[in-house]
Amino acid sequence: MNEPTATESAAHRIEVGLTTLGDGFRDEFARAADEHALRAAQAKVLGKKGDLTQLLALMREVGTADRPRIGALVNTFKAEVELAFAARLRELAEAARRAELEGTPADLTLPGRLELRRGHAHPIAQVRDEVLDVFRDLGFAVADGPEVELEEVNFTKLAFPPDHPATDMQDSFWVDVARRGAASPARALLRTHTTTVQVRELMARKPPLAVVSAGAVYRRDDDVTHSPMFHQIDGFLVDENVSFAELKGALTAFARGMYGADAPVRFRPSYFPFVEPGAELDVGCVFCRPNDGSRASCRICKATGWLEVLGCGMIHPEVFEHCGIDPERYTGFAFGMGLDRVAMLRFGIPSIRLLFENDPRFLEQF
Ligand code: DAH
Repeated sequence: MNEPTATESAAHRIEVGLTTLGDGFRDEFARAADEHALRAAQAKVLGKKGDLTQLLALMREVGTADRPRIGALVNTFKAEVELAFAARLRELAEAARRAELEGTPADLTLPGRLELRRGHAHPIAQVRDEVLDVFRDLGFAVADGPEVELEEVNFTKLAFPPDHPATDMQDSFWVDVARRGAASPARALLRTHTTTVQVRELMARKPPLAVVSAGAVYRRDDDVTHSPMFHQIDGFLVDENVSFAELKGALTAFARGMYGADAPVRFRPSYFPFVEPGAELDVGCVFCRPNDGSRASCRICKATGWLEVLGCGMIHPEVFEHCGIDPERYTGFAFGMGLDRVAMLRFGIPSIRLLFENDPRFLEQF
């Protein structure tokens, strides 16, 4: 018997090795219970540091005569592994699908494991929606306006005199706005009140009009009752023959809708440049009652028995002129109020800052 030469033995050892690997991977593929295990088994045979790579280290010792044959064997082996892999992968996917279809269905009625906490509207959003609802019931439409506003709309068209303290650089947040094609930039600012929407609506539409609008406004103010950003609601009604009687009727209806059907209401003369005459509406203090002796100590109404609720008045003819509405034909009333104060009164919140810190421990109480 001839002893196999070294080179014969290398080729032989590769052949034997391939047979052993073949039995090994078939077995492991069959046993792989999921895709992950199957991929690991495949990597074990064909991977860079896998069994085949190790076996092929012997290739160097295979004689030239045997090389093509051994090379072909190796290629066939690789192709077999790939085929077996693909087949088993398909089998596993089908089995998983079958298990899903035939297994016990998931019980969709089981309670979740995560406790999902239910959110709710911010206290300011709550009172905003309440106030808007009262006016919607009175027939007002709801409109919106931009928070970055032209000086012209925020002040000039509302008949603020140029030297009015509110127009002071210190009181407003001014914004530089480049105007395309214009030599000078537009004078713009963060609106200081929602009365701007009155101007925009009067310019864009024709009376009869009844509109309310809510949103954020900005002023350079910051203490326990003032925040640089706060919220207002403004509204107005314009038609032929609107008088102060309509103003009183609508705003009294609003105050009663908001603070109770028997809430006492009073109008006090006041001044705003865009109305004439101007007034302020007070509602009887909801925190102290006239006869229970608590008024003297009421801090909210400062023992006066009245809470200031809003500013109002008959729209100034100058405003109509600035907005292209004939003041000889039309009259109207307007009003505006701070929403943060309404929320603070409603919920007994002592500092306006609490409303903007968004601390859930605070907000979840409302
Ligand atoms: N804009 C005023 C303010 O911010 C409030 C106000 C007063 C609005 C009278 C009005 C109004 O529409 O008629 O203090």
